[in-house]
Amino acid sequence: MAKRMRLDKLLSNMGFGSRSEVKIAVKQGRVTVDGVRAKDSGMQLDPEKADVVIDGERVVYQDVIYVVLNKPQGVVSATEDSRDRTVIDLLADADRVLKPFPVGRLDKDTEGLLLITNDGALAHDLLSPKKHVPKTYEANVLGDVGEDDIRAFAEGVALDDGYLTMPAQLRIDGKEEREDGVYSRITLTIHEGKFHQVKRMFESVGKNVVYLRRVAMGPLRLDETLPLGQYRALTAEELEALFAVRTARTD
Ligand code: URA
Repeated sequence: MAKRMRLDKLLSNMGFGSRSEVKIAVKQGRVTVDGVRAKDSGMQLDPEKADVVIDGERVVYQDVIYVVLNKPQGVVSATEDSRDRTVIDLLADADRVLKPFPVGRLDKDTEGLLLITNDGALAHDLLSPKKHVPKTYEANVLGDVGEDDIRAFAEGVALDDGYLTMPAQLRIDGKEEREDGVYSRITLTIHEGKFHQVKRMFESVGKNVVYLRRVAMGPLRLDETLPLGQYRALTAEELEALFAVRTARTD
Protein backbone atom coordinates (compact mmCIF):
# COMPACT_ATOMS: atom_id res chain seq x y z
CA MET A 1 0.00 0.00 0.00
CA ALA A 2 1.29 3.44 -0.87
CA LYS A 3 2.42 5.52 2.08
CA ARG A 4 1.42 9.15 2.43
CA MET A 5 3.41 11.78 4.26
CA ARG A 6 3.73 15.55 4.28
CA LEU A 7 6.87 16.90 2.62
CA ASP A 8 7.86 18.94 5.69
CA LYS A 9 7.45 15.91 7.95
CA LEU A 10 9.60 13.77 5.67
CA LEU A 11 12.36 16.37 5.58
CA SER A 12 12.41 17.01 9.32
CA ASN A 13 12.19 13.29 10.14
CA MET A 14 15.18 12.62 7.92
CA GLY A 15 17.18 15.25 9.83
CA PHE A 16 17.04 18.23 7.49
CA GLY A 17 15.91 20.65 10.19
CA SER A 18 12.85 21.46 12.25
CA ARG A 19 9.44 21.68 10.59
CA SER A 20 9.72 25.47 10.45
CA GLU A 21 13.25 25.34 9.03
CA VAL A 22 12.23 22.98 6.25
CA LYS A 23 9.15 25.15 5.53
CA ILE A 24 11.52 28.05 4.92
CA ALA A 25 13.70 25.85 2.69
CA VAL A 26 10.61 25.03 0.59
CA LYS A 27 9.61 28.73 0.42
CA GLN A 28 13.13 29.57 -0.72
CA GLY A 29 12.81 27.07 -3.57
CA ARG A 30 15.54 24.78 -2.28
CA VAL A 31 13.46 21.60 -2.46
CA THR A 32 12.41 19.60 -5.52
CA VAL A 33 10.00 16.68 -5.70
CA ASP A 34 10.31 14.44 -8.76
CA GLY A 35 12.37 17.14 -10.43
CA VAL A 36 9.83 19.92 -9.87
CA ARG A 37 10.40 22.76 -7.39
CA ALA A 38 8.08 22.23 -4.42
CA LYS A 39 5.76 25.12 -3.57
CA ASP A 40 3.80 23.71 -0.66
CA SER A 41 5.64 22.23 2.34
CA GLY A 42 2.38 20.47 3.30
CA MET A 43 2.11 18.59 0.01
CA GLN A 44 1.46 14.86 0.40
CA LEU A 45 3.80 12.34 -1.15
CA ASP A 46 4.81 8.71 -0.93
CA PRO A 47 8.11 8.88 0.98
CA GLU A 48 9.25 5.54 -0.49
CA LYS A 49 8.67 6.58 -4.10
CA ALA A 50 9.03 10.35 -4.36
CA ASP A 51 12.39 11.68 -5.50
CA VAL A 52 13.01 14.50 -3.01
CA VAL A 53 16.11 16.69 -3.18
CA ILE A 54 17.03 19.50 -0.80
CA ASP A 55 19.97 21.80 -1.49
CA GLY A 56 21.14 19.29 -4.09
CA GLU A 57 21.07 16.37 -1.64
CA ARG A 58 18.77 13.41 -2.34
CA VAL A 59 16.60 12.48 0.67
CA VAL A 60 16.74 8.77 1.47
CA TYR A 61 13.65 7.75 3.41
CA GLN A 62 14.09 5.52 6.42
CA ASP A 63 11.58 4.75 9.13
CA VAL A 64 13.75 2.53 11.30
CA ILE A 65 16.89 3.29 13.24
CA TYR A 66 19.41 0.86 14.74
CA VAL A 67 22.48 2.16 16.56
CA VAL A 68 24.96 0.76 19.04
CA LEU A 69 26.15 3.01 21.84
CA ASN A 70 29.19 2.59 24.05
CA LYS A 71 27.30 3.69 27.15
CA PRO A 72 29.27 5.75 29.64
CA GLN A 73 28.62 5.80 33.38
CA GLY A 74 26.24 8.45 34.71
CA VAL A 75 23.46 8.14 32.14
CA VAL A 76 20.33 6.07 32.57
CA SER A 77 18.94 3.53 30.10
CA ALA A 78 15.60 5.24 29.54
CA THR A 79 14.02 7.57 27.03
CA GLU A 80 13.15 10.23 29.61
CA ASP A 81 14.12 10.91 33.17
CA SER A 82 13.31 13.81 35.48
CA ARG A 83 16.73 13.75 37.21
CA ASP A 84 19.38 12.10 35.07
CA ARG A 85 20.62 12.37 31.52
CA THR A 86 19.42 9.44 29.43
CA VAL A 87 21.13 7.43 26.72
CA ILE A 88 18.74 9.08 24.25
CA ASP A 89 20.12 12.49 25.25
CA LEU A 90 23.46 11.30 23.83
CA LEU A 91 21.98 11.02 20.33
CA ALA A 92 22.06 13.83 17.77
CA ASP A 93 18.69 15.56 17.23
CA ALA A 94 18.30 13.93 13.83
CA ASP A 95 18.72 10.48 15.36
CA ARG A 96 16.04 11.11 17.96
CA VAL A 97 13.30 11.96 15.48
CA LEU A 98 12.30 8.33 14.92
CA LYS A 99 11.80 7.88 18.69
CA PRO A 100 14.36 5.18 19.41
CA PHE A 101 14.63 3.52 22.81
CA PRO A 102 17.26 1.35 24.50
CA VAL A 103 16.84 -2.42 24.20
CA GLY A 104 16.94 -3.45 27.84
CA ARG A 105 18.76 -1.67 30.61
CA LEU A 106 22.28 -1.17 31.80
CA ASP A 107 22.62 0.31 35.29
CA LYS A 108 23.57 3.97 35.58
CA ASP A 109 27.11 2.96 36.58
CA THR A 110 27.47 0.22 33.92
CA GLU A 111 29.33 0.94 30.69
CA GLY A 112 29.36 -0.70 27.31
CA LEU A 113 27.24 -2.11 24.55
CA LEU A 114 23.69 -0.85 24.31
CA LEU A 115 21.48 -1.32 21.28
CA ILE A 116 19.12 1.56 20.57
CA THR A 117 16.33 1.20 18.03
CA ASN A 118 12.70 2.01 17.31
CA ASP A 119 12.06 -1.57 16.19
CA GLY A 120 9.76 -2.83 18.92
CA ALA A 121 9.45 -6.34 17.48
CA LEU A 122 13.22 -6.83 17.41
CA ALA A 123 13.57 -5.45 20.95
CA HIS A 124 10.82 -7.74 22.15
CA ASP A 125 12.55 -10.80 20.68
CA LEU A 126 15.99 -9.88 22.00
CA LEU A 127 14.59 -9.40 25.49
CA SER A 128 12.25 -12.37 25.44
CA PRO A 129 13.06 -14.79 28.27
CA LYS A 130 12.32 -17.59 25.80
CA LYS A 131 15.15 -16.64 23.45
CA HIS A 132 17.93 -16.81 26.10
CA VAL A 133 19.98 -14.25 24.20
CA PRO A 134 23.46 -14.36 25.78
CA LYS A 135 24.91 -11.21 27.30
CA THR A 136 28.60 -11.01 28.17
CA TYR A 137 30.02 -8.66 30.79
CA GLU A 138 33.49 -7.82 31.97
CA ALA A 139 33.74 -6.86 35.62
CA ASN A 140 36.14 -5.94 38.32
CA VAL A 141 35.08 -7.65 41.52
CA LEU A 142 36.21 -7.00 45.07
CA GLY A 143 36.89 -10.53 46.25
CA ASP A 144 38.98 -13.53 45.31
CA VAL A 145 36.88 -15.15 42.58
CA GLY A 146 37.78 -18.82 42.27
CA GLU A 147 36.87 -22.25 40.94
CA ASP A 148 34.02 -22.56 43.45
CA ASP A 149 32.39 -19.49 41.95
CA ILE A 150 32.83 -20.83 38.40
CA ARG A 151 31.06 -24.02 39.49
CA ALA A 152 28.34 -22.18 41.40
CA PHE A 153 27.55 -19.89 38.45
CA ALA A 154 27.56 -22.89 36.06
CA GLU A 155 24.97 -24.59 38.25
CA GLY A 156 22.94 -21.50 39.11
CA VAL A 157 22.93 -19.36 42.23
CA ALA A 158 20.05 -18.11 44.36
CA LEU A 159 19.62 -14.32 44.21
CA ASP A 160 18.47 -12.26 47.21
CA ASP A 161 14.81 -12.79 46.24
CA GLY A 162 15.27 -16.57 45.97
CA TYR A 163 15.38 -16.65 42.15
CA LEU A 164 17.68 -19.42 40.89
CA THR A 165 19.78 -18.19 37.96
CA MET A 166 20.26 -20.16 34.75
CA PRO A 167 23.69 -21.69 34.10
CA ALA A 168 26.21 -18.93 33.38
CA GLN A 169 29.81 -19.07 32.18
CA LEU A 170 32.39 -17.37 34.38
CA ARG A 171 36.04 -16.87 33.43
CA ILE A 172 38.74 -15.41 35.65
CA ASP A 173 40.95 -13.01 33.69
CA GLY A 174 43.30 -11.77 36.43
CA LYS A 175 43.78 -10.82 40.06
CA GLU A 176 45.20 -7.80 41.82
CA GLU A 177 46.12 -7.39 45.47
CA ARG A 178 45.20 -3.94 46.85
CA GLU A 179 45.13 -2.44 50.33
CA ASP A 180 41.48 -3.36 50.88
CA GLY A 181 41.72 -6.86 49.47
CA VAL A 182 41.95 -8.96 46.33
CA TYR A 183 40.27 -7.72 43.17
CA SER A 184 39.39 -10.15 40.39
CA ARG A 185 38.90 -9.31 36.72
CA ILE A 186 36.32 -11.62 35.22
CA THR A 187 34.17 -12.24 32.15
CA LEU A 188 30.66 -13.56 32.68
CA THR A 189 28.07 -14.68 30.14
CA ILE A 190 24.46 -14.89 31.26
CA HIS A 191 21.44 -16.03 29.28
CA GLU A 192 18.72 -14.00 30.95
CA GLY A 193 18.40 -10.46 32.24
CA LYS A 194 17.15 -10.09 35.79
CA PHE A 195 17.41 -6.68 37.45
CA HIS A 196 21.07 -5.99 38.51
CA GLN A 197 21.74 -9.64 37.71
CA VAL A 198 25.54 -9.65 37.54
CA LYS A 199 25.93 -7.60 40.72
CA ARG A 200 23.43 -9.79 42.55
CA MET A 201 25.08 -13.02 41.36
CA PHE A 202 28.37 -11.89 42.87
CA GLU A 203 26.63 -10.72 46.04
CA SER A 204 25.21 -14.23 46.36
CA VAL A 205 28.77 -15.55 46.63
CA GLY A 206 29.87 -12.78 49.00
CA LYS A 207 31.67 -10.52 46.50
CA ASN A 208 31.14 -7.02 45.15
CA VAL A 209 31.15 -5.78 41.57
CA VAL A 210 33.01 -2.46 41.53
CA TYR A 211 33.12 -1.98 37.75
CA LEU A 212 30.90 -3.46 35.04
CA ARG A 213 30.73 -3.18 31.29
CA ARG A 214 28.80 -5.16 28.71
CA VAL A 215 30.90 -6.41 25.80
CA ALA A 216 28.40 -8.56 23.89
CA MET A 217 24.70 -9.10 23.40
CA GLY A 218 23.62 -11.91 21.11
CA PRO A 219 25.65 -11.55 17.92
CA LEU A 220 26.68 -7.94 18.68
CA ARG A 221 30.16 -7.20 20.07
CA LEU A 222 31.17 -3.93 21.67
CA ASP A 223 33.01 -1.86 19.06
CA GLU A 224 36.20 -1.00 20.95
CA THR A 225 36.89 1.87 18.55
CA LEU A 226 33.78 3.68 19.82
CA PRO A 227 34.75 6.06 22.62
CA LEU A 228 32.45 6.07 25.67
CA GLY A 229 29.33 8.09 24.89
CA GLN A 230 29.68 7.59 21.12
CA TYR A 231 27.47 5.53 18.86
CA ARG A 232 27.20 4.39 15.29
CA ALA A 233 24.66 2.76 12.98
CA LEU A 234 24.67 -1.03 12.88
CA THR A 235 26.46 -2.50 9.87
CA ALA A 236 24.52 -4.62 7.39
CA GLU A 237 26.25 -7.72 8.80
CA GLU A 238 25.29 -6.85 12.38
CA LEU A 239 21.68 -6.26 11.36
CA GLU A 240 21.53 -9.55 9.50
CA ALA A 241 22.93 -11.39 12.52
CA LEU A 242 20.38 -9.71 14.81
CA PHE A 243 17.51 -10.65 12.55
CA ALA A 244 18.73 -14.25 12.64
CA VAL A 245 18.07 -14.13 16.42
CA ARG A 246 14.51 -13.09 15.67
CA THR A 247 13.82 -16.10 13.54
CA ALA A 248 15.80 -18.61 15.61
CA ARG A 249 13.78 -21.40 17.14
CA THR A 250 13.49 -21.27 20.88
CA ASP A 251 12.59 -24.85 21.59
N1 URA B 1 23.88 -6.78 35.57
C1 URA B 1 24.00 -5.76 36.45
O1 URA B 1 24.13 -5.98 37.65
N2 URA B 1 23.97 -4.52 35.97
C2 URA B 1 23.87 -4.21 34.66
O2 URA B 1 23.88 -3.04 34.29
C3 URA B 1 23.75 -5.27 33.76
C4 URA B 1 23.74 -6.55 34.24
